[in-house]
Amino acid sequence: MRYFIGNWKMFGLPKSINILKKINTFYTKDRNKGKYRIIITPPYTLLESYAKHFKKKNISIGSQNSYQKDEFSSNTAAVSPYMIKSVGAKYTLIGHSDNRSEGDTNEMLKDKVKFALKNNLKVIFCIGENKKEKKNKKTLNVLKKQLVKVLDKKFNHKSLIVAYEPIWSIGTGKLPSAIDLKKTTIYIKKILKKIFKRKSPAVLYGGSVDGKNVEMFKEIREIDGFLIGGASKSSKKFIDIIKNYYR
Ligand code: PGA
Repeated sequence: MRYFIGNWKMFGLPKSINILKKINTFYTKDRNKGKYRIIITPPYTLLESYAKHFKKKNISIGSQNSYQKDEFSSNTAAVSPYMIKSVGAKYTLIGHSDNRSEGDTNEMLKDKVKFALKNNLKVIFCIGENKKEKKNKKTLNVLKKQLVKVLDKKFNHKSLIVAYEPIWSIGTGKLPSAIDLKKTTIYIKKILKKIFKRKSPAVLYGGSVDGKNVEMFKEIREIDGFLIGGASKSSKKFIDIIKNYYR
């Protein structure tokens, strides 16, 4: 199974649901539809209405983050996985570099993953090295740390997806080379296999994916799908990625 996940970030109004309706129509008619799943993570403001609309359709809805506590608490502006689940979302991103740069530590991320899983959300856990770490050839070390410090062997690996997003590639149009990406993905899967003592969860790539460069990723069979930012805000661009991937 492949995944095409659209991360809307700080984008979207109630009427933006039209973008997703078009993607849903495409999916319904796509002869490759059995091969992949579509997940969209709109902002919190749209979770309930979108999840309701697509409940019996082909797009799953997820949140972009989820707080490191369960149920209710007195943390202003925090939204717990219990609350996210209650409005019909099925997934949540955790550990996006935007949130890491705003202070999410490994300890916090571990609790985020733990409580999200406890509330039956599937977790898309994001990891990635920055430009300096790449330059100093620290990529694999950094990724290993990000994985082993957060993912506990007791976590349900079946509810987990890992998204590898090199920070220097997010929104920049810069991509890792195919050779590097293949190596890195295999390495991530090796670490995950070690942690869970079984088959690795799906590992996605994210960072400047578009309808053109997706061609390159076809060759890398280890990549189980994509986390797509910018190009997920347009139905045409998002559909082009799927079309070109299967062409
Ligand atoms: P991008 O974003 O596709 O715009 O690079 C990816 C992400 O941040 O998830």
